[in-house]
Amino acid sequence: MSQSTDLVAPESPITYSPTSFSQGRMDFAWEELSEAESAQLYADWEAGKGLLGGHPQYRPGADRLPPWGLNRAFFRAFALDDPRGDNGPALRSALVSDRPLEIEVGYGRGDFLLDRASRHPQGLFVGYEVKTKATRLALARGEGLGLTNLWLSDDDVRVSLAVQIPDGRVEAVHVLFPDPWWKEQHKIKRLFAPPFVDLLAAKIRPGGFLHFKSDVEGYGELVRYLVEQHPAFGPHDSRLVERIAPYVPTHREHWCQMNGKAVWAFFFPRREGE
Ligand SMILES: C[S@@+](CC[C@H](N)C(=O)[O-])C[C@H]1O[C@@H](n2cnc3c(N)ncnc32)[C@H](O)[C@@H]1O
Repeated sequence: MSQSTDLVAPESPITYSPTSFSQGRMDFAWEELSEAESAQLYADWEAGKGLLGGHPQYRPGADRLPPWGLNRAFFRAFALDDPRGDNGPALRSALVSDRPLEIEVGYGRGDFLLDRASRHPQGLFVGYEVKTKATRLALARGEGLGLTNLWLSDDDVRVSLAVQIPDGRVEAVHVLFPDPWWKEQHKIKRLFAPPFVDLLAAKIRPGGFLHFKSDVEGYGELVRYLVEQHPAFGPHDSRLVERIAPYVPTHREHWCQMNGKAVWAFFFPRREGE
């Protein structure tokens, strides 16, 4: 289903710098997982395979924040006790508050997340983006907008979300236009696999939801299959778009809109009691 753009809010503080994306591949083939394939994906996850930038706990200097990140709304899951900054205590106190928490995975330029944090000053927003340069740019943009409710990390979400965010704490997770990783040897980097869906199920509170978008139809189908077969999630419900309205598109979605490309949007409710 192609997402309508009539909920896009023009009054946002977000401005887009145009980029000429390449169209990229659109032919994404997938099949339901066999038990053996699923078991292999769990084993790979346990072994930390495919983490972008390696396992954040074992990077050189993993327990220290970079100087540019000190005393800012930036974190790395394994550097929260760095005594040179107040990042750890400040993030922990934000997380123990009862402010509704939304998370975006792979925010890129940060347009969607910055806009949401601007519109909902009472909420708390956390973003993960492994590209450090993009993280620094989004951090500076958030500071320029005067945001005090947005925390950013360049950790791989697969580790950081697990260790940093309490179970059941999250209202919504947004995963917008993730890389499908077409090549066989790159599939290991793909976010959506059964253990990632388990992680999302653990972190999103019952009544919350997962919001996913892609311009690659087949990847959308794979994600729908993986999420809907999980007992903690209900089937896609397009009415949940109301819970994020009004919103601005991500950088990739903005490019799709400008170039007449279809986008597939899904909203999966987190069931009660699973
Ligand atoms: C195709 S880009 C889309 C960016 C943005 N969401 C948009 O729609 O314009 C996907 C982004 O996800 C980030 N990413 C991929 N895997 C990630 C992971 N495991 N943890 C955190 N970020 C990740 C990549 O660095 C990349 O910037």
